[in-house]
Formats: sequence, C-alpha cells, structure tokens
Amino acid sequence: MSKGTFYITTPIYYPSDNLHIGHAYTTVAADTMARFKKLTGHDVYFLTGSDEHGQKIERTAKEKGETPIEYVDKIVAGFQNLWDNLDVKYDDFIRTTEDRHKVVVQKFFQQLHEQGDIYKSAYKGLYCTPCETFFTEYQLAEGKCPDCGREVEEIEEESYFFKMSKYADRWLKFVEDNPSFIQPETRRNEMISFVKQGLEDLCVSRTTFDWGIKVPFDPKHVVYVWVDALTNYISALGYDTDNDQLYQKYWPANVHLVGKDIMRFHTIIWPIMLMALKLPLPQKVVGHGWLLLAGGKMSKSKGNVVDPLVLVDKYGVDAVRYYLLRELPFGSDGYYSEEALAKRTNNDLANDYGNLLSRSSSMLVKYQQGELRKPTPEGDLDEELIKLAVETPKIVEQNMSNLQISTAAEAIGKLVGRANKYLEETAPWSLAKDESQAERLNTVLYNVIEVMRFATIMLSPFMPNIAEKVWPQMGIEDKPDLHTWESLQWGQLPEGTVVKKGKVLFPRIDLSEI
Ligand code: MSP
Repeated sequence: MSKGTFYITTPIYYPSDNLHIGHAYTTVAADTMARFKKLTGHDVYFLTGSDEHGQKIERTAKEKGETPIEYVDKIVAGFQNLWDNLDVKYDDFIRTTEDRHKVVVQKFFQQLHEQGDIYKSAYKGLYCTPCETFFTEYQLAEGKCPDCGREVEEIEEESYFFKMSKYADRWLKFVEDNPSFIQPETRRNEMISFVKQGLEDLCVSRTTFDWGIKVPFDPKHVVYVWVDALTNYISALGYDTDNDQLYQKYWPANVHLVGKDIMRFHTIIWPIMLMALKLPLPQKVVGHGWLLLAGGKMSKSKGNVVDPLVLVDKYGVDAVRYYLLRELPFGSDGYYSEEALAKRTNNDLANDYGNLLSRSSSMLVKYQQGELRKPTPEGDLDEELIKLAVETPKIVEQNMSNLQISTAAEAIGKLVGRANKYLEETAPWSLAKDESQAERLNTVLYNVIEVMRFATIMLSPFMPNIAEKVWPQMGIEDKPDLHTWESLQWGQLPEGTVVKKGKVLFPRIDLSEI
C-alpha cells in the first residue's frame, strides 16, 4: 500500500557549460532520496531539468557563433547523458524553453500584474550576470558580487517589479510557524535575518536582451530568469492547464533540494511568489553544502573541473555515487579528491561490503555445498548482530527522512562492519574442522548472509546496480519478496537456498595508480 506521495526536485541547471561533480552531487542525492522513498512504499515523482534563458546563456552562445537554442540543445543533451550514466532515473526533465513551461510563466506573470503585485518602474542598480542576480551597493563584497566574487554591471532600465515587501510579514510568520521549512537550521537563521533587514521589491523583467520569456502584456520585456526558473516546479506538473493531474496529485513538493548558494531564491522569492498566487508552499527546502577542491572552488578558468563521466568510466557508477553520498555530511561543505574516492571504495565497498559476500559465500560453498540450512537458537554474539540488523533499517529510514544521507549510509556501513567482525569472532573456518559444530557453522554463515541481504536492500538506492549482482550469488534472484523493504525482518532467507561464488563486487583500487 502506498504511504502517500513524495515529490522531490533538483535545481534546474544552467546550460552555460557542462556539469561537474558538484552538480552531480545534488542530482545523485535527489535520485537516491527518490529511490529510497519508492523502496519504502511512497508514490514518488522526481523532477530535474535545465534553466535555459538569461543574459549569460545569450552571451555564451554568441561567443560560440551559435543561436542560443542551438547552443543549449547540445549542452542539455550532455546533461541527460550524464544523468543516464549516473543512473539517475527522473520522472520528468523540464526545459524552460519548452512551450509547456512558457505558458505557465506568462499566466503567472499576467495574474500577478492584474492583481497589482507587479508594477512598472525604473531599475537602476547592479547586476551579476553569471549569477543572474541583482544587488544593492551595500550587499557587494569589496565592490564585487558577494556570491561569486566577479565584477557586477551597472544597469539602468525600465523594469517591472514584484511587490515582495508586501509579503515580508506573512513570510516571517510562515517560517516561524513551520520550523522545518528551511533546513538546515543555520540557513534558516540566515534567511530570517535577511528578511528582517527589510525586503525590497524585486526587479522581475529585463529589456536589454532578448533570450527569455516575453512579458505577455509588454513584449519588449523578458521575465527575470529566476522567476522563470522557479516556476518550473509547477509548470512541469501542468499547473494551470487542462492537463493538471500531476499538479493535483503531487503539489506541494515534499522537498526542493538545492545548494546553499541558491537558498535565498528558493526560500524567500519562490514562497512569496506562491503566496501571492494563493498556492500551497513546498514542505521543505533543503540546502546542501558544496563540494570543494583543496585549491578552492571548481571552475573552468582554474582548469580544475572534475568531470563525473571520467570518474564513472574509471571507477564504475556505484562507487562514484556511494562516495558522493557517504563523504559529504549533509548541509556542510566537503572536499573532493580522487584519492578519497578510491579509499572509500576500498574500505567500505571492497574490504567491508564486497568482502562479506565473498568470504561467506566461499565458506558456504566449501563447507556445505552453498546450502543454507535452518539456523539454531542464538548465543550472545548472534543476538547482538541480529539486534543491530533489525535496528538499522529504522535508523536509515529516520535519517533519510531528514535528508541525512551520509549518516544513513554510515549506519549501513556499521552493520556490515559488525558482520565482518562477527566472522572473526565466530571463526567459521575453525568450526568447520569439528563435525560436532556443523549446526553452529551453519548458523554463523546463515546470519552473515542474512546481513548481506539486509545491507543490499538498504544500499540499493545509493548503488542501483548492486542488487542484480548480489541476488544471483545469494541464490535469491527469482525471489522478489526477499528484495523488498518489508522483507527486512530477520530470518526470511529460506532453508535450502543455495549460495554461489561469484565475481568480486568491488575490486580494490591500487592507490599508487592515482
Ligand atoms: N539555474 C540555477 C538554479 C535554478 S533552480 C530553479 C542554478 N544553476 S547552476 O547550474 O548554477 O547550479 C545548480 C546547482 O548546482 C546549485 O544548487 C548549486 O549549489 C549546485 N552546485 C554547483 N557547484 C557545486 C559544488 N561544487 N558542490 C555542490 N553543489 C554545487 O543555480
């Protein structure tokens, strides 16, 4: 039975360039959440896409001698190829250049204008084109963009403004009444103090370039790219069209997953746009930290951009996904290094998880022709292992609901580690030498293989390809009932199951080769 709907989104990426490992982090995290929620019985909808308008894209295309659409078509195809390679299974990919999106943005704008929340005035101020963001003088950091550190441009043009200021009190009340709306807590506090400093009306149209969605009642203006982009979360669901079943079913979103740099747009501008239209607000906006390099930020100009496709090719998709999800504590920044990726793979996946299966399956094959028999009553060591196995799915479920993805992965790792230690403690290789210990030997090996089943189910949202390799080795590939979240009850593996030796799941990486 479905436990209800779960709608999760990623930011829609700018196709100004190819994506790097930092972008992959957000989307892999969202995909893992989506897979996890599906596994635990939710009706999931997972949206990603591309944010294709704006001055920066228009300029980049021009530099390449292409029209904006020619340029973005190629880059967006690259995004989709990257997600395929990372086993990201979204339900929809929205492009802001699609008509289904444009019509919704235009209706949205029109309605806000008709109800008096959008008015015409003149904008004079500072604009960071790479960030597509307006700033006031005092927001700048040493005269430069406070977000990316680049030069800002002075612009002066006739513009439409959105009456954000009118909604500041309502926003503050909402955020106070809904303490989990903005996560983590540090970001929530930042956003509250930002709004308390006084919210200015937002400039929501531009006239000095063309590559955007036209303001319906004044087509020399294009809609500000952030207003255009944020609307994707409902335009993709068919909001305000004849075909709005998805909107009816999935809105409001359960989680907008975004990087910390774009929290202001998602937690202030977007909710106020929705408030103005009297639409329900998303349940949570979660801001994750950044993946940094020892030398600072990743950037094309520094020539230090890490291409996730190269890593997938070298280490396999499961290892790359696991590394990203396990390494970065959710909400904080973390450092990327290929060496850390290799070490994680060796420690957690080769030595612990993969080794648990290879050790236990070879002993089973050697000592009892692979056959699992009924385990006998337990001793203390068994009880401790079983208790941990039974508790772990609950710990994982709780952490995943709070988007503490790395803590969830860590909990699974603890169980696997405990099972490896259990093998050392029970020493089945010694039990095998004594015929009177045959039942004990069977019990020990049964317990370890059952832990392997638990770990594989829980890890499958993180590493979507492990199950298809592990189930045949465990002899349960044709028993789907034993692959489900509900089957995480101890002792489900039936007597007579025949375990086989198979290929090494995660070969060790030679660190000297990095
Ligand atoms: N187009 C806007 C989002 C509009 S959503 C309505 C945008 N695009 S972006 O391509 O610049 O960035 C998308 C996401 O990638 C952001 O959440 C950003 O935080 C994330 N990341 C970019 N570099 C990153 C790292 N190095 N590490 C982690 N995430 C990073 O902003």
